[in-house]
Amino acid sequence: MGRFPDKVVWITGASSGIGEALAAAFAREGAKLILSSRRAEELERVRQGMPRADEHLCLPLDLTQGATFPALTAQVLAKYGRIDVLVNNGGVSQRAHAVDALPEVERALMEVDYFGPVALTKAVLPSMLARGSGQVVVISSVMGYVGTPGRSTYAAAKHALHGYFDSLRAEVWRAGLKVTLVCPGYVLTSVSDNAVGARGEKHGQTDATHLRGITAERCAEATLRAVARGKEEITVGGFETWAVLLKRLLPGVASRVIRRMKFSAGK
Ligand SMILES: NC(=O)c1ccc[n+]([C@@H]2O[C@H](COP(=O)([O-])OP(=O)(O)OC[C@H]3O[C@@H](n4cnc5c(N)ncnc54)[C@H](OP(=O)(O)O)[C@@H]3O)[C@@H](O)[C@H]2O)c1
Repeated sequence: MGRFPDKVVWITGASSGIGEALAAAFAREGAKLILSSRRAEELERVRQGMPRADEHLCLPLDLTQGATFPALTAQVLAKYGRIDVLVNNGGVSQRAHAVDALPEVERALMEVDYFGPVALTKAVLPSMLARGSGQVVVISSVMGYVGTPGRSTYAAAKHALHGYFDSLRAEVWRAGLKVTLVCPGYVLTSVSDNAVGARGEKHGQTDATHLRGITAERCAEATLRAVARGKEEITVGGFETWAVLLKRLLPGVASRVIRRMKFSAGK
């Protein structure tokens, strides 16, 4: 019956990329899924392609609309009775120089990448605490440890996730809850295509770094292993994940490497 038999797993950003791969992997391992993102028809496509499609629920949500999360959580609890794992995966990347990025675009990115996951976690947490069990998973990034050119707000949001969820982990462990941070390097998904530029425009291309990245399936498999083992944090990806260690051990060297990195601002 797999590693997650009948576990209730809520995944955001389940309509594409890593979230879609996570959904397929959790379903194979016996989990019942709640699939969330904005595009209902894409969620439905993902659900229909799964084993035991009837056991899974599509629950469209917008990560910028935190006020809707308590009611959505109540809907999930009414149907499944509990949430075993919340995977905060949905997010948007960035391709813009800091000097150019409009403040409203920066705020919108923080809403999706930071305040959204925080608000959804806070909606789910009381039921997990009441049961004395549950796991919150956060798909952060290598960018949660280093900041590279063109990613100032995205890196800030991912760094913020680490501070928040490290604190949360320290608060909830006594109650039996776990928090797992996942830091992927480059993964071949639509993330760079969907990344936003200085004025909020879509980047609209898949960068060469991502074309050379690992598959979403590999990222999902490493994530499931980490969740099953109750790991606090993992990195997953190619050589770029060494940046985390380099930054920790030799920050000056890391800085000299990173400042030479270029990014393409789009079409
Ligand atoms: N790919 C990489 O190289 C990489 C590396 C490190 C970390 N990550 C992280 O991995 C996560 C998934 O990204 P991905 O690579 O799979 O990219 P992706 O294919 O672009 O998927 C992003 C997902 O987020 C959802 N989303 C975007 N804005 C949303 C909003 N306002 N409300 C609700 N859902 C929203 C999208 O669904 P809808 O459009 O349907 O809303 C989509 O399902 C992100 O947190 C990203 O930062 C990716």
